[in-house]
Amino acid sequence: MKNDNNIKHKNRVANHGEVFTSKREVEAMLNLVDQETVRIDSRFLEPACGDGNFLAKILERKLGVVVKQYQKNQIEFERYALIAASSIYGIDILEDNVDECRQRLLLIFSQVYCSIYKNQVSQVYLENIKFVFSKNILWGDALSLKKVDNNQPITFCEWSAVNGSMIKRKDYQFSDLLAYKDFDEPSLFSVGLFSDLGEEVLIAKAKKEYPLTHFMELNKYD
Ligand SMILES: C[S@@+](CC[C@H](N)C(=O)[O-])C[C@H]1O[C@@H](n2cnc3c(N)ncnc32)[C@H](O)[C@@H]1O
Repeated sequence: MKNDNNIKHKNRVANHGEVFTSKREVEAMLNLVDQETVRIDSRFLEPACGDGNFLAKILERKLGVVVKQYQKNQIEFERYALIAASSIYGIDILEDNVDECRQRLLLIFSQVYCSIYKNQVSQVYLENIKFVFSKNILWGDALSLKKVDNNQPITFCEWSAVNGSMIKRKDYQFSDLLAYKDFDEPSLFSVGLFSDLGEEVLIAKAKKEYPLTHFMELNKYD
């Protein structure tokens, strides 16, 4: 539980620099990149996400666009809302923050979805959204690039929509994605041969690829 000064406990501030950003500052900072926050498939990674102050707001903004454009068609809404959710990534070194962040994102998502579709809500769909958040919001150390529980390299899933309802999942090792650090504006999964500025870039190789999977069945592969 945070107090009015946006901290949970002074020991956590000393040990992990844990001070949470206030709502007003989050909004102001996101406004600096507002075009990206309303692009449904833009990818965001917060390497010290805490309980998700930035990621929650990004999800709200993206879902706002999905609601506006697709709420009249439930399947279209479900496809695009999944894209919005699955392009948001976070890492935190404290397990309770990771849990809170995942729960917070899922709550935001469920509230929007359930308020529109009420008794047509699909629990299977929500289970898949929960699964995506469990894969995208990770308990790890953003400096060592390792997971905290098993010291294995942090791996992120890339979820790409193919032919409407099918999703291609590819898993990338986080350290491979940071090979782009020499370029001006690297993106999380930028895999073109040339950057926007025409410079040559490396192509990150996926550690694992999965068969095309319907968006209602993503959780059949761990
Ligand atoms: C300053 S708080 C910011 C939280 C959130 N981004 C916000 O703005 O409200 C910093 C967060 O970084 C996390 N943290 C500290 N060192 C970290 C590391 N090496 N890797 C990942 N997270 C880390 C802490 O647990 C804490 O949740």
